[in-house]
Amino acid sequence: MSKRVFLKTIGCQMNVYDSERMLSTLQDLGYESVSSAEAADLIIINTCAIRAKAEQKLYSFIGRLADLKQKKPAIRIGIAGCVAQQEGKALLQKAPCVDFVFGTHAIGRLDEIVRSVETGAERILDTAMNGIPNDDFRYVHRLNADSLVTRFVTIMTGCDNYCAYCVVPYVRGRETSREPGRIIEEIRLLVEHGVREITLLGQNVNSYGNKERYCSFAELLRRIASIEGLSRMRFTTSHPKDLSEELIEAFSELPKLAHHIHLPVQAGSDVVLKRMNRKYSRSAYLDKVGRLRKLCPDIAITTDIIVGFPGETESQFQETLSLMQEVGYDAVFAFQYSDRPDTPSSVFPNKIDGAVKAERLSRVLELQKSMTMKKHQALIGSLQEVLVEGLSRRTVLADPSVTQWTGRSSGNHIVHFSVPNSEAPKDLTGTLRPVRITRSFSHSLWGEPEEGA
Ligand code: 5AD
Ligand code: SF4
Repeated sequence: MSKRVFLKTIGCQMNVYDSERMLSTLQDLGYESVSSAEAADLIIINTCAIRAKAEQKLYSFIGRLADLKQKKPAIRIGIAGCVAQQEGKALLQKAPCVDFVFGTHAIGRLDEIVRSVETGAERILDTAMNGIPNDDFRYVHRLNADSLVTRFVTIMTGCDNYCAYCVVPYVRGRETSREPGRIIEEIRLLVEHGVREITLLGQNVNSYGNKERYCSFAELLRRIASIEGLSRMRFTTSHPKDLSEELIEAFSELPKLAHHIHLPVQAGSDVVLKRMNRKYSRSAYLDKVGRLRKLCPDIAITTDIIVGFPGETESQFQETLSLMQEVGYDAVFAFQYSDRPDTPSSVFPNKIDGAVKAERLSRVLELQKSMTMKKHQALIGSLQEVLVEGLSRRTVLADPSVTQWTGRSSGNHIVHFSVPNSEAPKDLTGTLRPVRITRSFSHSLWGEPEEGA
């Protein structure tokens, strides 16, 4: 009987990508992936440390696993990712049911770790940081056909920016880029397997290759754009201070580059930005937004915002609201400030009360909701190029005479459209379709396909 693994992923897209590679290693060791902890012999949790909430998620899951292990003492439990890196030995002490803890630089050593766990009784801790991003892309051969249209590819790991609130530089280590040749090889292989869109991942893709003197990020995009069969490319995340003119120009130069940028602003007040150690001002940020809109008028811009940073006054918070209005974001990911271990801001004075943070968060979300609605309405009548991801999972409009498809526009909006059942059935997955937008909803758009447009 084959061995079974349950791998739970908490956190960002980079964790999703890392989990995929872990799973591929485990499959090489004879493990089959199962979808419940109860059915598994080996359980791995890939964790996130960005906010206290994500960490709490881990501890409540560990509580459940402790009960399970009492009933099934033979199961083995491992903790991976950012909390593993941050807590290390303390995690083994806190959670007696855990058999092994391995950090963000240990994914390449997972096979040895699991082999020792299978044979030995010793608990294992591997949080060594060797500074080399895992470059193994054998996982591609194991991808299954229903998740192929769009994939993530990590191009760099770590971060050297040390924003005052952020745990990433401590848990992911120094900024390190992968070789351009390896990245291109991986994307070529993905495309051969049917992938049509890739999202390049890094904490700060704008400084790709700087340290290693590989090539600029814009140059990397140009090289990737020349891969035949690839329809579209995206990237995330960009630090506004490093958003170069060369990269801004890439939006008008490279037809395959999606018209979307995620440009985390975090706060609208210069005083708060300075204390966050973000190294740009409100006006420098707005200038870059202006350049982006000038060269790529229909670019969708999204952002991250932190409310209730230590010392943030009501009027400083209002500057965040006014900046949101000035920019007119397509979407905003907003978070209440959360103290993280070892970060400078965790010892800043004048922490903001939880109720005030909650109230500020709801004001940000409320404002964005109405702005997103307006943005969506403004798209009615426009022609969008939709990369079809598959059949709609739910029925958007009740009409049994049509088949409903879902995909994303270049600006990353979810677009649904239908094809009459009277037409010859065709699998549209992975194709680019011109769709005329006719209706807007709060989270998606609806349109009519325009053949031959
Ligand atoms: N508290 C709240 N939000 C945070 N983020 C990062 N660190 C913290 C923290 N300590 C947010 C930032 C970042 C996003 C990924 O998470 O907005 O851009
Ligand atoms: Fe964290 Fe700042 Fe680095 Fe982003 S740029 S990962 S917010 S330290």
